[in-house]
Amino acid sequence: MAKATLYFPPDFKWAAATAAHQVEGNNTNNDWWAWEQTGEHVRGGQESGLACDWWGSGFDRDLDLAARMNHNGHRLSIEWSRIEPQEGRWDSAAIDRYRYMLTGMRERDIEPMVTLHHFTNPLWVAERGGWESPSIVPLFERYAAKAVEALRDLCDLWVTINEPNVYAVLGWSQAADHIVEFTTPSSDFPPGKNDPQLVFKVVDNMLLAHGAAYHAIHRVQPQARVGLAHHMRLFDPARSDSPLDQFCAWNRDRLFNRIPLKAMLDGHLDRPFGLTRRIRQLKSTADFIGLNYYSRDLIQFDRRGWEGMAFGRNIHNPNAEMSDMNYGEIYPRGLFRLLKRLGRYGKPIYITENGLPDLDDDRRPSYLIQTLREVWKAINENVPVMGYYHWTLTDNFEWAEGWNLRFGLVKLHPETQERTLRRSGELYGEMARINAIDDQLVYRYAPELFETLFPG
Ligand code: BGC
Repeated sequence: MAKATLYFPPDFKWAAATAAHQVEGNNTNNDWWAWEQTGEHVRGGQESGLACDWWGSGFDRDLDLAARMNHNGHRLSIEWSRIEPQEGRWDSAAIDRYRYMLTGMRERDIEPMVTLHHFTNPLWVAERGGWESPSIVPLFERYAAKAVEALRDLCDLWVTINEPNVYAVLGWSQAADHIVEFTTPSSDFPPGKNDPQLVFKVVDNMLLAHGAAYHAIHRVQPQARVGLAHHMRLFDPARSDSPLDQFCAWNRDRLFNRIPLKAMLDGHLDRPFGLTRRIRQLKSTADFIGLNYYSRDLIQFDRRGWEGMAFGRNIHNPNAEMSDMNYGEIYPRGLFRLLKRLGRYGKPIYITENGLPDLDDDRRPSYLIQTLREVWKAINENVPVMGYYHWTLTDNFEWAEGWNLRFGLVKLHPETQERTLRRSGELYGEMARINAIDDQLVYRYAPELFETLFPG
């Protein structure tokens, strides 16, 4: 039997990622909580409720499990609505709670990465129009400065905003519901509008807020490393020889993937029809690139899709292996393709999210091995990948899908709060422990991959 060990760099981060609203529980003062209360937007009327009880005892239980899995990093987010429950009023008890969490991570040798905005807004912000108006930019900047001031002795790795593109599309476009051939059926985010122009406005305002926060954070903490978590998908033409499909795939890539990259690297805010605004404040506002990668889409030209979908329709790939509830194609190689592409910018890269819904955990072990092998390959081709943050540590509240999609290395029973480490969690813990993937792990956890990975 062939023997081989794929080693990772000595300071590589083996980590997981979470978001405040999905794990804390009882986030009653934000717009997502209000959205859940209507009973109409989350599958089956489910609610986040106690979530993983991170505002209670769940935090320590989950962090103990992360430590048991040898994690040396964790990405979490803090909740604006707890820190600034009303405009200009700062809640010191909430800040103390986050200090407790970050201290708990440090004590377990888990380096925190803190995200300041992950999909939720305080009610007072939502009531003032949220991200539709640029007046949110100074408000976010002030919150960012305040949060970093309060936590800077415990953290110097910051993500300003999570996925402006996903946030804007899910909240302000219903286009996908009409034209995507297959999709996770309910993907309804507040405020549930349908206005393609607003999609771009919201992205602009988020990118402007990112730029403002970037500078504010560096003023408070000069040595901070600040980035944005950018969701990138691969868009491939459904028919590789069709120029129309190629154009639509290229265009989707331009609108979804490239706008945020160009903003934080070059300071260019691109609009759909080719107009560009240059914003000096935005240029070079990425100390690192945060990449969230889940899946790829095959795009086919469709003249009905002029509104919102830029004339492209998502086609189901009949040969693809899909994750639970058709969440997406399982396509580990996509991570390598994106890393190679991002490597050109010469910035450190953190994979700030990657994972798949897999309740039965029958695909996650082989997915982890294949995906981390793609990461290893990219590192060996000189792409500066600093760490991998698996989405997610413990099953949590999956937004409009409620509790139906399970992404955790740890299985959670939301009612009893009982936790069970999944086999994939064991495997990930072993990879973190040896800082490598080796033949024995593959043999034990995904023997079907053995011949392909270690031929001969
Ligand atoms: C989001 C997470 C979400 C995950 C899985 C990402 O786009 O940042 O909050 O849980 O996808 O759908």
